Amino acid sequence: MTAPQRKLFVTTALPYANAPFHIGHIMEYTQADIWVRYQRMRGHEVHFVCADDAHGAPIMLKAEAEGITPQALVAGIAAGRPQYLDGFHIHFDNWHSTDSAENVELSQDIYVRLRDAGFIDRKVIEQFFDPVKSMFLPDRYIKGECPRCGAKDQYGDNCESCGAVYAPTELKNPYSALSGATPVIKQSEHFFFRLSDPRCVEFLRGWTQGERLQPQIANKANEWLESGDGLADWDISRDEPYFGIPIPDAPGKYFYVWLDAPIGYLASLKNHFHKLGGDMAAFLADKQTEQIHFIGKDIVYFHCLFWPAMLHFAGKPYKVPDNVFVHGFMTVSGEKMSKSRGTGISPLRYLELGMNAEWMRYYIAAKLNANVEDVDFTSEDFLARVNSDLIGKYVNIASRCAGFVTKRFGGQVSTDFGDDGAALLASIAAASGPVGDFLEGREYSKAIREIMALADRTNEYVNANAPWELAKLAGREADLHRVCSVALNAFVRLTRMLAPVMPAVAGKVARLLNCDFSRWDDTRLLATINPYEHLMTRVDPKQLEALFPPPENIPPAAPEQPQRHSQHQTHEAVEEAKKADDFEPFISIDDFGKVDLRIAKIVSAEHVEGAAKLLKLQLDIGEPKPRQVFAGIKSAYDPATLVGRMTVMVANLAPRKMKFGMSEGMVLAASDDSGTTPGLFILSPDSGATPGMRVK
Ligand code: 2FM
Ligand code: ZN
Repeated sequence: MTAPQRKLFVTTALPYANAPFHIGHIMEYTQADIWVRYQRMRGHEVHFVCADDAHGAPIMLKAEAEGITPQALVAGIAAGRPQYLDGFHIHFDNWHSTDSAENVELSQDIYVRLRDAGFIDRKVIEQFFDPVKSMFLPDRYIKGECPRCGAKDQYGDNCESCGAVYAPTELKNPYSALSGATPVIKQSEHFFFRLSDPRCVEFLRGWTQGERLQPQIANKANEWLESGDGLADWDISRDEPYFGIPIPDAPGKYFYVWLDAPIGYLASLKNHFHKLGGDMAAFLADKQTEQIHFIGKDIVYFHCLFWPAMLHFAGKPYKVPDNVFVHGFMTVSGEKMSKSRGTGISPLRYLELGMNAEWMRYYIAAKLNANVEDVDFTSEDFLARVNSDLIGKYVNIASRCAGFVTKRFGGQVSTDFGDDGAALLASIAAASGPVGDFLEGREYSKAIREIMALADRTNEYVNANAPWELAKLAGREADLHRVCSVALNAFVRLTRMLAPVMPAVAGKVARLLNCDFSRWDDTRLLATINPYEHLMTRVDPKQLEALFPPPENIPPAAPEQPQRHSQHQTHEAVEEAKKADDFEPFISIDDFGKVDLRIAKIVSAEHVEGAAKLLKLQLDIGEPKPRQVFAGIKSAYDPATLVGRMTVMVANLAPRKMKFGMSEGMVLAASDDSGTTPGLFILSPDSGATPGMRVK
């Protein structure tokens, strides 16, 4: 019996329409495209859409700087999209724009519903205004001196030197990054989505804690929801001049780009249904429909708090997402990609060098799992996986056996497999279930590992039977025919499992071997085949050298991406993500020597009233008086169990005034974002260490 057909609405994050794609986009689209292709092979109905994220101040200002309209800027970028998407075999059913009639209609409709249900507040806020440009300045366009460390030329929302997070109005000697003018504080009425409304909080507590989110993401959402400060209301309006969607009945006010961006998913779907002659509202209202968003780890706050809350309280036919699937970033040799250091991979350069798009798709699949982990690209790994695994193991099966069948048996494939051949084919057939489950669960690396293990077994079978030897021996035709027929049928089964990852190779195999890969559960055997042609070449190491030109040959850097994080809450997420995934650059021994680490005895530990994460510790480090330290370890430790323990503290961190009192140092703890509980581990020295000992 086949499973009932699913109805899937699948999206990837909408890219800003002010720059071409980078390799991170290609990775996300590849992840989703593989998943969608697999769902289609299972017979499910899928609508896979995306769009350009067209609005916002950065696009408006960039267009102005180029002397064109924002619409012209967006159109230029949109015109460049197909060469990437087609080039990497990424097949969206529709590509639209947030600057579209559908998005205006849907955004205004959702807003009006939220307003009428009491979720919109108006508040007068004070903001910096550029008197020369006559506009309010987004945080990223205000610079000045950090209020904490005094570093010059820091952005209006955080200091890149000391990491402080603050409001732009706290900057010293602020100036407009657009005109250089000193901004003035001006009042303006803004519209806020009441995320703090108890109805929202209650709904999100339920929505974020189901099976629909990865455990790491559910934990993060839980931290946001249960943090002492609660959820802040979300500023969803911007004053003119702004490239965006007008707020109904509010002249001069526009929706902030992040309000209408996710609604762009629906705008693209609506446009797609219009082209199909279907009805989006009916599709969304169908109980069977699943709404699934693939996104990167930097935009979780928007997709797992604002977006489901907006949809839920807007009411039918809107529906909340069924899943938000979050992935990490792509790094190159362990580093964040940077054009100036010459580490970025340009997707277009990759294609222009004649590199096979399916090498990259295969490589991405071989490295991706369902966790929020970064995918690291290294040339050596890429070369090994493509040349040794993909070509050396998989393609090799067909290239060693197909020629004998066409030349010696007129292209007829035998159905006599012998016991060992039949057993091999049966074991590959049996793997289709687990491999399918891995694809379903986005555990692509496990799927690839399994497929390659089966390719190894097939090659062992071929090697053991050595068809090239059989071909030389008189009277062994039947054996030759049998071995090659087994190998080719095995190859077809492996190709079926790889088809979502490598659709172009699968297409070629289908033509050469007269088979079809549109269904996952197709068990038909081969009958006749066509003369073999090469399926795929090896990577030439020279291509990889050319992909990473030496720094002086690097083309000028792409325009800066607009900030994703103009809401303060997201800083925490970004900083968390950074901490979890990056190793810090090397420092000298002298730098390390500046950190005064001491053995500390915890002489008291207690809860802090009103603090969701903190414990108040008194630490003896051999000084006349213990140090008071507020440590964010409440989730992992019962204070009573800490008293008397030895640990390690940073003793020369400048004292910091916190809401609950002075903190005179920091306790070291290990943590990760794996979602495990408790997830935080303070350090302990071996016995014999005494309070105040220096740790070096
Ligand atoms: O961060 C970004 O690149 C945004 N343009 C993503 C928007 S996703 C969705 F909300 F539209
Ligand atoms: Zn600073």
